[in-house]
Amino acid sequence: MIPEFKNYIAGEWVAPSSGQYFENINPADRRDVVGRFPLSGNADVERAVESAERGFDVWRRTPAPLRGDVLRRVGDIMASRKEEIAMLMTREMGKPLPETRGDVQEGIDTAYYAAVEGRRLFGHTVPSELRNKWAMSFRRPIGVCGIVTPFNFPMAIPTWKMFPALVCGNSCIFKPAEDVPHTGAVLVEIMLAAGLPPEVIQLVHGTGEQVGAAIVNHPRVPVISFTGSTETGSLVGATCGRMHKRLSLEMGGKNAQIVLDDADLDLAVEGVLWGAFGTTGQRCTATSRLIVQNGVHDRLLGMLVDRVKRLTLGDGRLPSTDVGPLIHEESLQKVERYVEIGKSEGAELAIGGTRATDGALSNGTFFHPTIFSNVRPKSRLEQEEIFGPVLSVVRVASADEAFAVNNDVKYGLSSSLYTRNVDLAFRAMSELDNGITYINAPTIGAEAHLPFGGVKQTGNGHREGGWEVYEFYSETKVCYVDYSGALQRAQIDTYAD
Ligand code: UN1
Repeated sequence: MIPEFKNYIAGEWVAPSSGQYFENINPADRRDVVGRFPLSGNADVERAVESAERGFDVWRRTPAPLRGDVLRRVGDIMASRKEEIAMLMTREMGKPLPETRGDVQEGIDTAYYAAVEGRRLFGHTVPSELRNKWAMSFRRPIGVCGIVTPFNFPMAIPTWKMFPALVCGNSCIFKPAEDVPHTGAVLVEIMLAAGLPPEVIQLVHGTGEQVGAAIVNHPRVPVISFTGSTETGSLVGATCGRMHKRLSLEMGGKNAQIVLDDADLDLAVEGVLWGAFGTTGQRCTATSRLIVQNGVHDRLLGMLVDRVKRLTLGDGRLPSTDVGPLIHEESLQKVERYVEIGKSEGAELAIGGTRATDGALSNGTFFHPTIFSNVRPKSRLEQEEIFGPVLSVVRVASADEAFAVNNDVKYGLSSSLYTRNVDLAFRAMSELDNGITYINAPTIGAEAHLPFGGVKQTGNGHREGGWEVYEFYSETKVCYVDYSGALQRAQIDTYAD
């Protein structure tokens, strides 16, 4: 019997107005149906917005430290259910258990950070230019936030967005990716169990085209936070621009690990294995380019291919699995298309390049970890986001050439440099056009309490995580209090005597 899930709208678990459902499938074994989830539409979003407005009215008046207390309890419950959530997350999206445990942990860390932030939310008090007058600023919530999230971090990414939004006093309408609705449902269940007032959170399942678009286009949802492809982000951005909405975008990446001649090669190999093939390459921070200096190029490539041969593909719930499946068939086809593009551009296939269909793998959407060498800068393989287990190796003569290759893409999320030269490391930190640069560590693995995001077409100037995201989810209000008992004219009476 396949379980049927519901939306959470207006304080109740309810069926979609369409009466229709979609199936959520385990990508490691497509015969395994996780559940049937609501295929919602405009009417469901409309009810969710009306309810979220009522929720906002209550929640914005709740003192921020009390809002933070709810988030602390959310973190406690997530910690107590960590193993169970990791299991169900691996079942619905495939990455190995250590990674899904990490994903839940990132949510827990975000909850505890948010809890404390409820006691901070700093404003400023500054001197006024006039006598007997105070000048200060504080942060006000904005309203209903539309939260549209991807499949690759089913717990962490929704928490990055919703927890700061909630601590700031907003209400949320949450649309999880259609590949990971189960984790989304559990997250909402936990938020309610922790004492979040019912109308402050709404969960509306469905497709991006239907539900995502209805939220983004709704005139009474003034804040949108979206993580996904740069193509979809452009559409979301155009709508939000036209409707004057506040928008945070986290989109594509073409992240590089640079390895210079003086690097610790064993460390560099460990780093690129984790960066390129962790989460089956389906992170916006994934290492999709390896830029290697001449002197160590051949040795590093040999070491890497040798290690990739020994990676085990499989169901992420098995302890033997290093790499899980891709999320679905379209994603496999996209990776196949890029393998063909790579070959036609003259890159050399060093390993992989095909679907993995041995034994039980034939039931899932598996692809062999793939490495191309001799990849030319500016080729499509080197420039475009693939979102799969495909690594492009580029040979360079110098650190300067490596920095230039790193920067010559339209994206700018993360980069990494392996070197023992401290001068070069510091130069790289300012030269590399990315939101995040790692020294002697892979391109993945951002920590929840630091700002996360990228430059160029990776984002639109905002950051998630850390202290900066709280500015996104609140408006600055400035107040002046004049206790002089007289009219004082700014800029005129200031220097009058
Ligand atoms: C993403 O791929 O969208 O830095 C987020 C990392 C993770 C988050 C990735 N902490 O790789």
